[in-house]
Amino acid sequence: MIKIRAHLPRDIAYRVKWLNNPNVSRFIGDRMGQKTSLRKEREWFGDYQKAKNKKFFTICDDSKPVGFVGLSNISRANKNADLFIAIGEDDYRGRGVGKIVMEWIIDYGFKRLKLHKINLGVIKDNIPAVKLYRALGFVTEGEMKEEVFYKGKFYDFLSLAIFNKTETNK
Ligand SMILES: CC(C)(COP(=O)(O)OP(=O)(O)OC[C@H]1O[C@@H](n2cnc3c(N)ncnc32)[C@H](O)[C@@H]1OP(=O)(O)O)[C@@H](O)C(=O)NCCC(=O)NCCS
Repeated sequence: MIKIRAHLPRDIAYRVKWLNNPNVSRFIGDRMGQKTSLRKEREWFGDYQKAKNKKFFTICDDSKPVGFVGLSNISRANKNADLFIAIGEDDYRGRGVGKIVMEWIIDYGFKRLKLHKINLGVIKDNIPAVKLYRALGFVTEGEMKEEVFYKGKFYDFLSLAIFNKTETNK
């Protein structure tokens, strides 16, 4: 059963494993194919613990960590944030986990954080991701042609957003 819990220091080693998984890293728009390290992820976690504008969670199958999801650049003033999700374990992609987790984090952003808008960036060729985001109601706000260079090829990048249609606190 899929469970979502707080992102904890014990997840740092998983972050290294997942972010270095080519099936994940080749789809991370701002750092396509780049490697991370224990030192960099410890640093990221240290900054995360101090940050007031980030909320990250670990996705688990019962107690087994399989990925992470989060909101960053949370702006209380503008009521928006940027979303990131990665299912790091290969066996857990394409089985509906992403959909469950995305529905949860959107609900968290809109109901708990009272956001108006959630943004995300995605490589246009990331078919499962784009399909999932569109099915959830994300709309295209911009398309950056040949924005990311990876292994001899340029990739188009989409800027997507979903709006809170039910908010009462405008
Ligand atoms: C993108 C990601 C979060 C999607 O989660 P997932 O659990 O794999 O997706 P789901 O199983 O919930 O499927 C979502 C939709 O994509 C479709 N899909 C899944 N895998 C697919 C594939 N290989 N090809 C085409 N469509 C696919 C499913 O059919 C589903 O649509 P449906 O509900 O209409 O059937 C996950 O694959 C992932 O973490 N990928 C690597 C990192 C990444 O790309 N992160 C996003 C950066 S923006």
